[in-house]
Amino acid sequence: MSTRPAVPGGAPPARAKVTVRTIRDMKTRGDRITSVTAYDYPSARIADEAGIDLILVGDSLGMVVLGYESTIPVTMAEMAHHLRAVMRAQPKALVIVDLPFASFQSGPEDAVRNSARLVKRGAEGVKLEGGRRVLPQVEAILAADIPVLGHLGLTPQSVHRFGGYRVQARGREEADALLEDALALERAGIFALVLEGIPLELGTEVSQALHIPTIGIGAGPGCDGQVLVLHDLIGLSFGKPAKFVRRYADVAGTMRNALTAFRDDVRSGRYPEAAESYAATPERDPCAS
Ligand code: KIV
Repeated sequence: MSTRPAVPGGAPPARAKVTVRTIRDMKTRGDRITSVTAYDYPSARIADEAGIDLILVGDSLGMVVLGYESTIPVTMAEMAHHLRAVMRAQPKALVIVDLPFASFQSGPEDAVRNSARLVKRGAEGVKLEGGRRVLPQVEAILAADIPVLGHLGLTPQSVHRFGGYRVQARGREEADALLEDALALERAGIFALVLEGIPLELGTEVSQALHIPTIGIGAGPGCDGQVLVLHDLIGLSFGKPAKFVRRYADVAGTMRNALTAFRDDVRSGRYPEAAESYAATPERDPCAS
């Protein structure tokens, strides 16, 4: 939970498993929800150790770690592969997985089958993009007892319809449509809603209109929680970050410096030293393992 204190360098205190119920109750209590993406074992483990509430195995993995131009090419097999790696970290954080493009748009049957595939691999719920257009899919997944996280606004799987990654719902008509979508998803029974790339006023309006929590990404401070792509947050992504990204570290720079130092040490013969090597007889080598 977000109340967990950060303990730099120390073991964090144990915490209870975060469930969809925990996330819903956080809004009631006024606790802000924290969420980041994770696509592999180390990032899931570190996010969990940092006390993040919700780990999202987002289809952004297609762009962030697989080098695709968009999230459109991401497959179910890729989502399942990364989910399994995340689950090996046994996170206390709630783990939600994206249904990738073309895994649910075709109808409720595909939506349930693909959601179930992810739940069998450890997912505790699925996220899918869209509002009233995908309500039959949302209802079918929920009827299969699988929690759903909604996602409205700048939904990246609709990039071709939007004509690029641009802020959505700036006008009143579009804002009203988004609000209607949000209310319809809430009535259907989703446990929380991601709001991406919308004006901060609308982020606040939707958050106040809903009983379930909103989790914003480029949707302003009025949301009930915030989610960021981990690689953006730690500075391990390329290109100009979006306006809403706050970089908390420069991991790409740290990696570049470490690798340059390694390259220089090898080339100059400074690495490895005798102390970093094995002796022929282990008794003469107290450090041997
Ligand atoms: O795929 C993703 O990473 C997302 C965001 C909400 C971060 O959907």
